[in-house]
Amino acid sequence: MKLVLICAMEAEAEGFRSHMTDVRLRQVAGLAFSQGQLWGQEVAVVTSGVGKVQAARCAQAAILIFQPELLIHVGVAGGVGRGIKTGDVVVASDLVEYDFDLSGLNEGVGQFCSCDGATSRALFSAAQQVLDSGQAYLGRIATGDTFVADSVAAARLRDTFGALACEMEGAAVARVCEANQVPCGVVRAISDNANESAGADYPSFLAAAVKNTERMLAVCLGGGMHH
Ligand code: ADE
Repeated sequence: MKLVLICAMEAEAEGFRSHMTDVRLRQVAGLAFSQGQLWGQEVAVVTSGVGKVQAARCAQAAILIFQPELLIHVGVAGGVGRGIKTGDVVVASDLVEYDFDLSGLNEGVGQFCSCDGATSRALFSAAQQVLDSGQAYLGRIATGDTFVADSVAAARLRDTFGALACEMEGAAVARVCEANQVPCGVVRAISDNANESAGADYPSFLAAAVKNTERMLAVCLGGGMHH
């Protein structure tokens, strides 16, 4: 299967790049794609940079360049759902741009979009297989252009939007995929709880969280990743 993997940051992507074989580097539009084989699939890995604009432009470029059968966004997130902790993994069933706000026009807050159901179920099943002490969740992820380090803001994402985790790119990628009719999955390993200690927790738990996503994708891609 022809697949694009997008990560926001190099720290989230370097493990995937290091496992690839037959790698060709392709630079387009300021984006560095590593093309090759990863766990039996034909894959292009790219880092987008942080935030919705960077993520959207990267996803659109990747789709136009590679015409992938599937696009997966992988990275870390802050846990906001009850009981969710570092070491857990959240696979998105759907996502919300929580900072999309038309309330001044008496319309809603939040822009929602969905992931490909079969892809999400396959990713969730892989997470259940590989996590030792962590828990796998399948549910809503909230995306916005803020690193959330505020327990009141985190609780709002949970209570207003039903989010399990928050990050800064997923909904943007999913929306671009939806517009292009490319199936999409979003996987996030929890690096912090988006609260007052998130700034300190994030660098401490980043590497372990990223490892969880690598083990998951190895199972998923190695198993064929049919969507
Ligand atoms: N990615 C990882 N942790 C995050 C947080 N607390 N807020 C936004 N994005 C994140």
